[in-house]
Amino acid sequence: MVITSAEFVISNSRVNKCPTTGLPEYAFIGRSNVGKSSLINMLTGRKGLAMTSQKPGKTQLINHFLINKDWYLVDLPGYGYARLSRDGRDGLRKMIEDYILERTELVCLFVLLDSRLEPQRIDLEFIEWLGEEGIPFALVFTKADKLSKGKLAANIAAYKERLLQQWEELPPLFITSSEARMGRDELLSYIDGINKSL
Ligand code: GTP
Ligand code: MG
Repeated sequence: MVITSAEFVISNSRVNKCPTTGLPEYAFIGRSNVGKSSLINMLTGRKGLAMTSQKPGKTQLINHFLINKDWYLVDLPGYGYARLSRDGRDGLRKMIEDYILERTELVCLFVLLDSRLEPQRIDLEFIEWLGEEGIPFALVFTKADKLSKGKLAANIAAYKERLLQQWEELPPLFITSSEARMGRDELLSYIDGINKSL
């Protein structure tokens, strides 16, 4: 799929304030700093479209980006950001949960995982919750440029093994690097396939 246009539409903290165009959308979630905003910039080929930071906790709102005037990419705040107050954390969690559970336009949630790390409890619990709620999702490993091919393959294999303890079947799985523009074609054609099936 060719990206002909990508534009920021709106940021907000409430699912009921999200765009009402009814177009399908794909949202990115995962731990703070895992690379959600960077991946949106890489996929769209627009540096600085979504705001990124070396410090975790950058994205604090639900951000809609209209792609090819036809569908949205949605940048969400990260979960598990420890340096927020309890109220701040609870507020973010509610924002994310309400969005995931109530947003009927959401056709697939991409859960980002840092490919350098072994399976983290917070991610596994989040994935389990998605399963319980019946939310369609796919897994996206990020920052693959930061480790050797061998280590990357070993980490992905370990992750699959861990998931298969919980799931009968693996969800769709993508390996990406925003730095190296890895996984771009695969993700875009996955989205394209879903768009065409709607
Ligand atoms: P929050 O908005 O805080 O939840 O973070 P985020 O998940 O949106 O992460 P963001 O895209 O802001 O990236 C966090 C940091 O990781 C930045 O310093 C990025 O440059 C870096 N980063 C993201 N993706 C990659 C990647 O593929 N490779 C490398 N080497 N660095 C990356
Ligand atoms: Mg972000």
